[in-house]
Amino acid sequence: MVRKNIFVFFITVICMFTTYGFAEEKPKGEKEKSELAKLMGEIDKNYKAVEQISGYYKYSDNDWGVIAEASANIIQLTKIVISKFPRPDDKKYQDLNKLMLSETEKMLEVTSRKDEKGALEDAQWQVRRLRQTCAVCHKHLGIHLYPQLYPGKKDELPPGQHEIPAPKETGAPKDW
Ligand code: HEC
Repeated sequence: MVRKNIFVFFITVICMFTTYGFAEEKPKGEKEKSELAKLMGEIDKNYKAVEQISGYYKYSDNDWGVIAEASANIIQLTKIVISKFPRPDDKKYQDLNKLMLSETEKMLEVTSRKDEKGALEDAQWQVRRLRQTCAVCHKHLGIHLYPQLYPGKKDELPPGQHEIPAPKETGAPKDW
């Protein structure tokens, strides 16, 4: 009697494990992108729109419009990242997200004084600051994006871009 019960018990346990195992199995095919990855993809799209025109000698009103819109979008997206995907145990990640937000806010601010002297240079500087922030966080997390986004390139920077000396402002992470 005791033996039979033990036998039944083991069969039940095996069945439970089997069912659990199958239920856990993910459908094959394309791996689902995480929500954070999707947000990053959107940030990337907006960043690239600005980067694409960052080598111009002069911005048209339309170009300034592109920068203003992309900045506003990145600000929104970064706020979502900050509130929905916090990593309280990773201070550097937290700081870099905040930095991405403040650098983008500065970029938006530049568009409000687009007709003033130096606005073009300031906007271009903000693009670089932003790109540094992206690169520093990805490096911190061991994410190698640019080789994947720009196949054939070995470093983290897009084609034609060169390493930018670390800005000396305070508030930036120490190892810039
Ligand atoms: C504070 C950290 C942080 C900053 C700053 C950051 N990223 Fe990311 N990024 C991540 C993480 C984490 C992932 C991986 C998300 C995942 O796969 O779940 C990622 C992934 C990506 C991806 C890949 C998305 C995909 O489809 O798999 C792109 C593209 C990207 N980031 C672009 C950018 C750009 C452009 C910037 C700057 C404007 C930026 N990121 C700034 C943390 C950051």
